Amino acid sequence: MTPAKNYTKIAVLLHWFIALLILCNIVLGLGSHYVPDADVRTIIDLHKSIGITVLGLAFVRFFWRFNHSPPPFPPGYRKWERIAAQTAHVLLYVLIFAMPVTGWIHDSAWDQAATHPMQLFWTIPWFRLGFITSLDPATKEMVHSLFGHVHSLLSYALYGVLGAHVLGALKHQIIDKQPELQRMWR
Ligand code: HEM
Repeated sequence: MTPAKNYTKIAVLLHWFIALLILCNIVLGLGSHYVPDADVRTIIDLHKSIGITVLGLAFVRFFWRFNHSPPPFPPGYRKWERIAAQTAHVLLYVLIFAMPVTGWIHDSAWDQAATHPMQLFWTIPWFRLGFITSLDPATKEMVHSLFGHVHSLLSYALYGVLGAHVLGALKHQIIDKQPELQRMWR
């Protein structure tokens, strides 16, 4: 495949839309610890809806990426910068799948899942993962707790990789005076 000169319009839209949804979900996930008990369910229900949406969009982004090569890095980039940027991109792809999937497993193993059916944005009925909901109660409790921890640990990884990705882009834009943001903006 010949590398494109720019990211496609679809790639740009997906990039910023997914970024916005992930930021919302970080705020909602962390914020859920600080809101009054009466509001926790609403916040977490919205968090789950956004997370499942991110998972769907991650598949679209992934398949789009396979059929549309990204533009090459600008010529001034050093080798270590290319490797660092590519590593961050791969890790971000992994995390935009891993965050929703671990959250979904955690939620499917919740002991109150049966009495709190999932609905995306309070409208579209959504399913829990059958191979988790059918586990015996003790195993389910273990899976619930384990994946709650994994979901939380991955969120720390996400802060780190996201921070590196944004700082790297800003370094190229401001210090190296490369048209970095323009590559992902039309
Ligand atoms: C873009 C995807 C997602 C991101 C970035 C994300 C991020 C987070 C963050 C930052 C937290 C707080 C972690 C902590 O307090 O240490 C959290 C908690 C939580 N997430 Fe997600 N999440 C995502 C998707 C999902 C999905 C799809 C579900 C379920 C279907 C889910 C279910 C939960 C639940 C139930 C909690 C609360 C855990 C607790 O404190 O009991 N998440 N998430």
